[in-house]
Amino acid sequence: MYKVVNAKPLNNDVFRLDIEAPFIAKKAKAGQFIIIRVDETGERVPFTIADTDPEKGTVSVIIQKVGQSTMLLSQLKSGDYIEDFVGPLGVATEFGDAKKVCVVGGGVGNAIAYPSAKALHKAGVEVDVIAGFRSKDIVILEDEYKDICDNLYITTDDGSYGDKGFVTDKLQSLIDAGAGYDLVIAIGPVPMMKFVSKVTEPYNIKTIVSLNPIMIDGTGMCGGCRVTVGGETKFACVDGPDFDGHQVDYDELMRRNGTYRDVEAHDRDNCRLMNMKVGGTN
Ligand code: NAD
Ligand code: FES
Repeated sequence: MYKVVNAKPLNNDVFRLDIEAPFIAKKAKAGQFIIIRVDETGERVPFTIADTDPEKGTVSVIIQKVGQSTMLLSQLKSGDYIEDFVGPLGVATEFGDAKKVCVVGGGVGNAIAYPSAKALHKAGVEVDVIAGFRSKDIVILEDEYKDICDNLYITTDDGSYGDKGFVTDKLQSLIDAGAGYDLVIAIGPVPMMKFVSKVTEPYNIKTIVSLNPIMIDGTGMCGGCRVTVGGETKFACVDGPDFDGHQVDYDELMRRNGTYRDVEAHDRDNCRLMNMKVGGTN
């Protein structure tokens, strides 16, 4: 059993859990993920690690309420326990020898973009962050980003905070202004990663994306997480989750991710926990 040391809502749909897991906290690197089973009958749910504190022995995950397991996790309070917490899994992000990097996070994907920005900043690399959200009320991690980047640009789709528009608009304007990035890391909804990669491709700016296909075992055995990258089949759980953004077949990934959408929607509509709590605080 793994203790929840701190449980904190970040907005109505997104919350952070700091979980006591000292061995994972010591080993985990940016880009890796863990698998949680909330109780002994629970499904295995993968989450990319948002932060670690090796001294306190905690691993943090930032989670969006989308189905029954994430709803159960959102009900946890500090001092509660979860059944399983396995990791670190996947390959850590390889930053190479980049000198100036733009980290682009979309919505809840910022939870995963943040550790990459933090690791690069710690390594002395110049880091700009573009963090995009639909509107001001769901902005997360603004203060945390400010501590670990050279320039933070927030965008909102409706213009209620920061620059109005998508992250891709800001990225294009920074490239046009001569920002001189030699690496872009993009993490967020699949269409965002697709279009960030389309922005950077004509300039040959290396672009890393973190893919989030359906996962089951997380160890390369079930094939559930297969993606096509550069015409080859890869398993996101063991070959990724990071891949070359210019090589990913995003349309196939979107199709595969939509496979269980009807079932998830049905679960959401019929989940008593969700119906009791949606829109409330944790
Ligand atoms: P969202 O739909 O609110 O989008 C966040 C931002 O991404 C937008 O504000 C915009 O700036 C940008 N964006 C979205 N669509 C774009 C497009 N077509 N072109 C350019 N930019 C675009 O995001 P959300 O609701 O917070 O995120 C939910 C989605 O993100 C889910 O589908 C979830 O599975 C995915 N997600 C992915 C990862 C990952 O590892 N890649 C991690 C967490 C969540
Ligand atoms: Fe089963 Fe990747 S989740 S092979």
